[in-house]
Amino acid sequence: MRKTQSILKQESEYILQTYGRPDFVLERGNGVYLFDLDGNRYLDFVSGLAVNAFGYGDYDILKAMEKQAAQLMHCSNLYHTVPSTRLAKLLVENSFADRVFFCNSGTESWEASLKFCRKWGSTRFSEPKYEFISMNNSFHGRTYGSISTTGQPKYHRGFEPLLPGVSFADFNDLSSVEELVTDRTCAILVEPIQAEGGIHVATDEFLQGLRSLCDDRELLLVFDEIQVGMGRTGSLWAYQQYGVEPDIMTLAKALGGGLPIGVSLLRQKVADAVEAGDHAATFGANPVVTAVALTVLKKLLADGFLESVTERAAHLHAGLHKLQERWSEEIVEIRGRGLIAGTVMKNRPAAEYIAAFRERDILAAPCGPDVVRFLPPLVMEKDQIDEAVDVFDEILRQG
Ligand SMILES: Cc1ncc(COP(=O)(O)O)c(C=O)c1O
Repeated sequence: MRKTQSILKQESEYILQTYGRPDFVLERGNGVYLFDLDGNRYLDFVSGLAVNAFGYGDYDILKAMEKQAAQLMHCSNLYHTVPSTRLAKLLVENSFADRVFFCNSGTESWEASLKFCRKWGSTRFSEPKYEFISMNNSFHGRTYGSISTTGQPKYHRGFEPLLPGVSFADFNDLSSVEELVTDRTCAILVEPIQAEGGIHVATDEFLQGLRSLCDDRELLLVFDEIQVGMGRTGSLWAYQQYGVEPDIMTLAKALGGGLPIGVSLLRQKVADAVEAGDHAATFGANPVVTAVALTVLKKLLADGFLESVTERAAHLHAGLHKLQERWSEEIVEIRGRGLIAGTVMKNRPAAEYIAAFRERDILAAPCGPDVVRFLPPLVMEKDQIDEAVDVFDEILRQG
């Protein structure tokens, strides 16, 4: 208790207060559990906001990290290294992409992708194309290009002026996108599942329509799979469930197995517009991070793994739907796909449910004011899912 209090006090004194955090201090993790300084154990339905796909202390990930750290921890992108090259090859072999750019976070991969779109738009046409159409309610990160293309005013306030040349259409409304296309548009930006925006799943017609629109008008289609890629939906990439491929896609979060990574995947036609010196990142393609990411990707691709995610996800959604039937006055809707699920609450703010879960040793995260989000490690067992659903039932019963 004393150490917890001391850390909380120092945190409030020394760390910029950009986060609202509950008053416990996490010390370690094991499997799908986190432990705080006072020895309390929490079942984790946050997984580092979609990072810890294999939970905590995964043997293969630790081994890859240890081995590579001992061998070569960092070297500049002035030189070739083995792990980043192998990771790039495996990413290309298992996606739409022809080329890979490595950086260190989601927002950085989004910034890189915006630059690649503009470079393509400025070199491909006699009159440069540089405008973006993004979606209302989207989320793409916190740096300037990212907030400028994020369709939620709360992330803009106080930070204007933003990047010019961005307009916003309505998610899942193809005609609203069509209306915004001009001779200057270079790309359409979309999350196949809007995660931070409240867990809204794109319809097949919407993504397929966007692809046709991009083909007809010669625009790039850019998918942000930073949160919902890497097996979260039960396929390696969410787009695989739509029969639609993008021209650029961003990855981050779970791919790094707990270490910071960002990736921009590109089709060759975009890569052709990018020259040496156009973009760079000192820590991008770091050997330790990419060795771990290679291990993560191999584990995601291992026989039967994605099928097991689909089964666990079906179990989670069935449990939540049953709960909704029982508590239809409280739970308005269940959203999501695979192991990203949200319950839309009617009468009380999501934050109150999150606090009630925490009192019962389960960690979940809100997603906007009214959505309780469940984002477990992909290795969460069915009986652990049942435990969370039962606890939710108890919270609702106790009002
Ligand atoms: C869809 C999406 N894009 C971009 C980001 C930004 O990623 P990062 O926090 O690694 O910069 C996030 C983070 O939550 C995200 O969910």
